Amino acid sequence: MKPWKLILTLGALLLAAPAPARAADPIVIKFSHVVAVDTPKHKAAEKFRDLAAQYTDNQVKVELYPNSQLYKDKEELEALQMGAVQMLAPSLAKFGPLGVKEFEVFDLPFLFDNYEDLHKVTQGAVGKGLLDKLTARKILGLAYWDNGFKQMSANRPLLTPADFQGLKLRIQSSKVLEAQMRSLGANPQVLPFSEVYQALQTSLVDGTENPVSNFYTQKMHEVQKHMTVSNHGYLGYAVIVNKAFWDQLPEAIRSQLEKAMAEATRFANTIAKEENDKALELVRQSGRTQIATLTPEQRLAWKKVMVKTHRDMEGRIGTELIRAIHQVTGFDPDTL
Ligand code: LMR
Repeated sequence: MKPWKLILTLGALLLAAPAPARAADPIVIKFSHVVAVDTPKHKAAEKFRDLAAQYTDNQVKVELYPNSQLYKDKEELEALQMGAVQMLAPSLAKFGPLGVKEFEVFDLPFLFDNYEDLHKVTQGAVGKGLLDKLTARKILGLAYWDNGFKQMSANRPLLTPADFQGLKLRIQSSKVLEAQMRSLGANPQVLPFSEVYQALQTSLVDGTENPVSNFYTQKMHEVQKHMTVSNHGYLGYAVIVNKAFWDQLPEAIRSQLEKAMAEATRFANTIAKEENDKALELVRQSGRTQIATLTPEQRLAWKKVMVKTHRDMEGRIGTELIRAIHQVTGFDPDTL
């Protein structure tokens, strides 16, 4: 056979041959969030991504979209409900606009003294009951992930409640946080997380509150002269998925994902405190923000003023829910 004929014949044979068997396309889970990559939330999300791939033999691909690169706070919840993304981990302060305002109970100041008390709630009946409320919104709550206790910051020292008078302070979209800031005589301003740095830089607001891991990774130390280690409130997350998406997954895949989520949750809740301690050290080293730690007397003075929100918010959140948490932690606001 002439060489050119041989080439044509081989070419024809190749074209006629069936395509080599291709592995089925993986199931993609888009996981969107608003914080930086060097944070407890993103590190836990990476852990989940890796374990999900490992336990499903790469049949599931979790794609992470940090830093509000896909959606800001409010948009991401809408995107989840529409199925544009499948997984989120919004802070518990952000479920009010979804109509599940009970999650704002976690925003009550001085509700928890430490992670142990908090875990008794998130890992107990109260925590489960709250996640169950999401199903009516076509959302499934899979887990609670910690960030940590919040610190206050501004361009002036914040040591007594009087220091807050008249300050404009950025808050997340929670009525409880609004009441908390008003109890201090400050003016709360709701802003998406992605806009906080600029709002501080341009003095649209004077200060804010957040765990130090968020403060440092958003470079807020560049635009806030003072931070007070007050641990006055908690900020954590609920990992949520679009329920219809989750329900249609093959059972074998879903159970492996549940296993990956349980492990990622243990990881998240182990690293959170350490990550915040590290961030505090980095803020200190930056020399840009002066850090003050409240004395027990100063903290008590804050607590006396701010704890009135526990009563004031009963109508919004439910007296029973607040009492149930007080019972678990042993806190009695009347003893202050
Ligand atoms: C905030 O908006 O301050 C936080 O909820 C951001 C986050 O997700 O940690």
